[in-house]
Amino acid sequence: MNIQHVLESQQFTRPLLNELFSVTDQMDRVLARGGTQDYNDKIMASLFYEPSTRTRFSFEAAMHRLGGRVISTENARDFSSGASGESLEDTVKVLNNYTDVIVLRHNEVGGSKRAAKVSRVPIINAGDGKGGQHPTQALLDLYTIYKERGSVEGLKVAFVGDLANGRTVRSLSYLLGKFERVKLYFVAPDVIQMRKDILEYLEENEVWYDTVDKLGSIIPEVDVVYQTRIDKELFGDKADEYEKFAKEYYIDPDVVQSMSPQAIIMHPLPRLKEISPEVDNDPRAAYFRQARNGILVRMALLSMLFG
Ligand code: CP
Repeated sequence: MNIQHVLESQQFTRPLLNELFSVTDQMDRVLARGGTQDYNDKIMASLFYEPSTRTRFSFEAAMHRLGGRVISTENARDFSSGASGESLEDTVKVLNNYTDVIVLRHNEVGGSKRAAKVSRVPIINAGDGKGGQHPTQALLDLYTIYKERGSVEGLKVAFVGDLANGRTVRSLSYLLGKFERVKLYFVAPDVIQMRKDILEYLEENEVWYDTVDKLGSIIPEVDVVYQTRIDKELFGDKADEYEKFAKEYYIDPDVVQSMSPQAIIMHPLPRLKEISPEVDNDPRAAYFRQARNGILVRMALLSMLFG
């Protein structure tokens, strides 16, 4: 693979995405036979300054299934020397002596870029700050759309929820913008609508998009509904406003009823109250299949970085 670090989703060209998806398909077969020992000389550090269930566990499981080993801190802000004031750069320089790849979730936008500047080993951005990026989530999201729908070209995708701060929707917008005739709908109230930088990127690249504030108006015509969590804290003392939006964008069996039979519902998870658990058994609910794809895509990515 012709990239040293995985920092933002725009790095991935169409040929590279094709290669990644082909290796991901192979990893499904590797996983079915319990894994491989091909990378038993490799060590991965997972350095998480913010909480995570899916990203950290799926990266660590991916590394184990590849035969490699893992060194880890799940709360680097408290349990690494970061707690004593050590800079991210110094921590990364030190870890370079012990490991072959560093998976980093950082609380500041740009944390992974700072780490990459001083790192000889690959840095993988596992999410940086509010409104940063989460490129490996976007890769597994794109793979999910491709597997569930057979193709990405020409699809209509609705992003719903906190689009201003959600890093997964930002990263996935860049990737979807690489495919022909895709149309993106950003469904959110103004206060948490998609930021200008992404909208400008889409305009420059002639990607169709629309911003809307009502879910019901577009639900019947979209192929993918990508739901996200709205952070209650963003609304401070305006709890009523949060409750209003949470209700307005809630996906329950009635909403699903109005979707196309071939459409899928995605969510990067964790879910709070955005999707009713009653929807989980509908075949269109793809979010747990999406989470499973995380280990496959991350096995593929690690194997390609190791070469
Ligand atoms: N989707 C996602 O990034 O989940 P975690 O925060 O649990 O890693």
